[in-house]
Amino acid sequence: MFRLAFHTPQIPQNTGNAIRTAATTGCELHLIRPLGFDLSDTKLRRAGLDYHDLASVTVFPDLDAAFETWCGARVFAFTTGARKIYSDIRYRPGDVLLFGPEPTGLPPDVLADRRLTGRLRIPMLPGRRSLNLSNAAAIAVYEAWRQHDFAVPPEPVRRSPAQPEAGRPPSEADEPG
Ligand SMILES: C[S@@+](CC[C@H](N)C(=O)[O-])C[C@H]1O[C@@H](n2cnc3c(N)ncnc32)[C@H](O)[C@@H]1O
Repeated sequence: MFRLAFHTPQIPQNTGNAIRTAATTGCELHLIRPLGFDLSDTKLRRAGLDYHDLASVTVFPDLDAAFETWCGARVFAFTTGARKIYSDIRYRPGDVLLFGPEPTGLPPDVLADRRLTGRLRIPMLPGRRSLNLSNAAAIAVYEAWRQHDFAVPPEPVRRSPAQPEAGRPPSEADEPG
């Protein structure tokens, strides 16, 4: 399935919305630290409603750790400054759709990272700054899934609170809800 990755997200409601998107589409949600909130944040839990247990969420200590896990996968960075349009890509299962933090977007060093497959934008009317992070992510994931006829994947491996983070032992603070 596809992987939705949020680089250093700051607003808990957006990540809560993405947890719901992960639960409804079967994509995995990868969160890259540092996060601007605690995973037990009430606003995150509310935005994710009762979908937390249906979503696969993994937290990485940094981008390098995420790239290690993604080894060999295509990684597309979503940014308003890209030339290529997101719907012109033929997505493949395993592709990573990487999004930047609110409100600054992906930092220049990440956008210049040679491990990226490409940079993509979602069209907007002229003079508009950006879409909301969770809306942009949902648009991208649904396009990737649509291209695969909304195929129902095998039951995802769900991250329980006991296995929340790649690279370090779990703690209660990691509970995705
Ligand atoms: C609130 S936006 C950040 C806005 C930031 N000023 C920028 O230009 O990237 C958070 C993230 O949503 C994604 N995003 C929002 N609108 C987008 C668009 N039109 N095309 C591609 N990505 C978009 C990007 O990944 C961005 O880093």
